[in-house]
Amino acid sequence: MKENTNEAALGNGLHDSLFEGFAYIELYVGNAHQAVHYYRTAYGFKPIGFMGMETGVRDRASYILSQNNIKLVITSPISKDNSIAEHIYRHGDSVKDIALKVKNCEETFQYLIDKGAQAVSPPQRFCLETGHIILATVKTFGENVHTLVEEQGQVFDLLPGYERVNFKQLINPELFEVDHLAICLDEKTLDFWVDFYKEVFGFFQSHQEDVSTEYSAMNSKVVQDGSEKIKFALIEPAKGKRKSQIEEFLTYYAGAGVQHIAFSSANIVSSINTLRKAGIDFLIPPNTYYDRLAERVGEVDVSLDDLKSYNLLVDRDKWGYLMQSFTKPAQTIPTMFYEIIQRHNARGFGAGNIKALFEAVEFEQLRRGNL
Ligand code: FE2
Repeated sequence: MKENTNEAALGNGLHDSLFEGFAYIELYVGNAHQAVHYYRTAYGFKPIGFMGMETGVRDRASYILSQNNIKLVITSPISKDNSIAEHIYRHGDSVKDIALKVKNCEETFQYLIDKGAQAVSPPQRFCLETGHIILATVKTFGENVHTLVEEQGQVFDLLPGYERVNFKQLINPELFEVDHLAICLDEKTLDFWVDFYKEVFGFFQSHQEDVSTEYSAMNSKVVQDGSEKIKFALIEPAKGKRKSQIEEFLTYYAGAGVQHIAFSSANIVSSINTLRKAGIDFLIPPNTYYDRLAERVGEVDVSLDDLKSYNLLVDRDKWGYLMQSFTKPAQTIPTMFYEIIQRHNARGFGAGNIKALFEAVEFEQLRRGNL
């Protein structure tokens, strides 16, 4: 395995950013009512906004869910002949929009268009109960989009067209914010998309990891914005003996898309305990993973017994260490899943764990007959 960190680029304060972090992530799903129940009861999200037939909207039903700094938008089509239904038909339940907070929507939109981004919708200003919001949307990889979100006035929580709803938070796994997203790309397109985020969005490349196991291989590069709040791990399949989990994703998703969303936690043991009790299944690393862990990562503040019993993976870089765990796919098809991550100053993405994760996924692939 080859790992390469662009230390000079990380945290040197030289990067200006047009962006201020993730605004929300919108998923298109077949049945928003049931999906919202899952994100409420199993992930602890609280519905705060709704639009649908009851609010005079005829093409979709959509909820805004919130937990600390994370906002998810869960949307279903109402009729079968609209673009949301087509997206679900092609890709299954999946992420459509990775919305990014910007300081100035009009300027950022124009900048991106001048640099070669394709427009989906130009900047539009909306009046909300807490202030104003300006939204514009551009295309990115696959059939995904980035909506640029500028808030004017108080911090927004609703989006245009949504009515406030009052639901209780049912469980509290204390998920704090979106740490990063991993994106599966078609073979041999990794460098194209790294260049796209560098040249169009002004991101920089912070990491490179090439991983291979006995059976399969992948190449990965991480791009981040200057604020280091928006991080995308971009992944393409590489030649291996058998079908890699990246190829499996690309087959079932039918193209490039979001492979996982990582939520950060300040107490991963407690988060995973809560999620597990709510029925979320996590990947189990191979038995041998813990044999020489202490040698590889040194002291961490969770006991080896807890690391083992909560299936936590640990990795260390020059800044510190991180603990992470990955769920099984959240859909019937082996496409998107979630990661829970706790950072103790580490700025990597668990390169040392990718091989262990690959082997754990290969076991699941074997069970699905896809290896
Ligand atoms: Fe990740």
